[in-house]
Amino acid sequence: MKYLVTGGAGFIGANFVFYMLQEHPDDEIVCYDALTYAGNLETLESVMDHPKFRFVKGDVADREAVFRLFAEEGFDVVVNFAAESHVDRSIEDPGVFLKTNILGTQVLMDASREYGVARFHQVGTDEVYGDLPLDRPDLFFTEDMPVTASSPYSASKASADLLAMAYHRTYGLPVTISRCSNNYGPYQFPEKLIPLMIANALADKDLPVYGTGENVRDWLYVEDHCRAIDGILQNGRVGEIYNIGGHNEKSNLEVVKIILQQLGKPESLITFVGDRKGHDLRYAIDPAKIHGEIGWLPETKFENGIKATIQWYLDHEDWWKNIISGEYQQYYEKMYGNR
Ligand code: NAD
Ligand code: DAU
Repeated sequence: MKYLVTGGAGFIGANFVFYMLQEHPDDEIVCYDALTYAGNLETLESVMDHPKFRFVKGDVADREAVFRLFAEEGFDVVVNFAAESHVDRSIEDPGVFLKTNILGTQVLMDASREYGVARFHQVGTDEVYGDLPLDRPDLFFTEDMPVTASSPYSASKASADLLAMAYHRTYGLPVTISRCSNNYGPYQFPEKLIPLMIANALADKDLPVYGTGENVRDWLYVEDHCRAIDGILQNGRVGEIYNIGGHNEKSNLEVVKIILQQLGKPESLITFVGDRKGHDLRYAIDPAKIHGEIGWLPETKFENGIKATIQWYLDHEDWWKNIISGEYQQYYEKMYGNR
């Protein structure tokens, strides 16, 4: 089998490349990535010379380049991770989110129709269900819930999902969609909650918690996500949506306190800052469908995953210090300077 993995120089895509090369040593992977601010070839350093791996730099919205790649390679399976992925950036500048996340997905699906693939897997997010109230712990996201969106990011991801389902129904494209909760683990860009808080705590800088810190996320260790997608590729039903996550709900304040405790840093570093516009209250996945059909459940408990993640950031300071030393400084000042 030959896989096209788009966005494979980013956080989850790279972890998926590592996972697949290990679990399916006979399969080939081509990673196609535009190397935006979030893409990093250093992340892929260990596999660049792997005989079953090839990296191609390019934009998923570049129709000519994408069609050329499909013509050259003849893919069996496409897994589309490529996206603008940060909610806060989408609030500042939605345009690129629509281009990459919606039009990019369309281009990839058009190429998949033209050249034929056995599967087109769209990596989606649980943010397309909107949010759940904080005082109803009995409620969870299920696949049959209506799609809604709070941020330009989630609206763009919801649009891509709708388009993918339309391509399945109208053209018979063999689509599957997964909708995952918040991932954490190695190689996550330090604009997201957990790596940002680890990096700030290590530098004894303020930890900027939005609003009251009561918002809840359902944390999933990235390797569990990769295993779930592999399960869907092998055993999922075409035309179906699968939620991925569950049973690891934590408030932002709880997460930040755990990080401080693990690093032996004081809680006085916590600083409450202005809330995110349209801030979703709670995400929580019901994984009954993927569990029932594919036998998947998350394996990594938050307590263990966060320890492993913190240790990874301690052991790989060069990787993230390189990132936060450049353009990131201006980003940080813009987002947090007057918050
Ligand atoms: P990321 O921001 O770390 O990586 C995105 C990657 O896509 C980068 O390598 C970037 O260079 C590449 N990319 C961006 N625009 C591109 C373009 N136009 N053409 C080609 N490549 C492009 O994101 P992530 O956190 O790894 O998320 C991967 C996917 O998973 C996204 O689709 C995201 O919506 C989804 N997702 C993420 C989470 C999470 O918690 N991180 C949860 C659920 C779903
Ligand atoms: O649920 C899946 C989604 O999870 C993915 O689709 C997105 O790509 C991914 O970025 C993530 O979205 P969130 O907005 O939930 O993640 P983020 O890490 O940006 O924020 C997590 C929570 O922490 C959220 O409630 C906002 C809060 N937060 C975040 C940052 C960066 C803070 O309080 N302070 C911060 O500095």
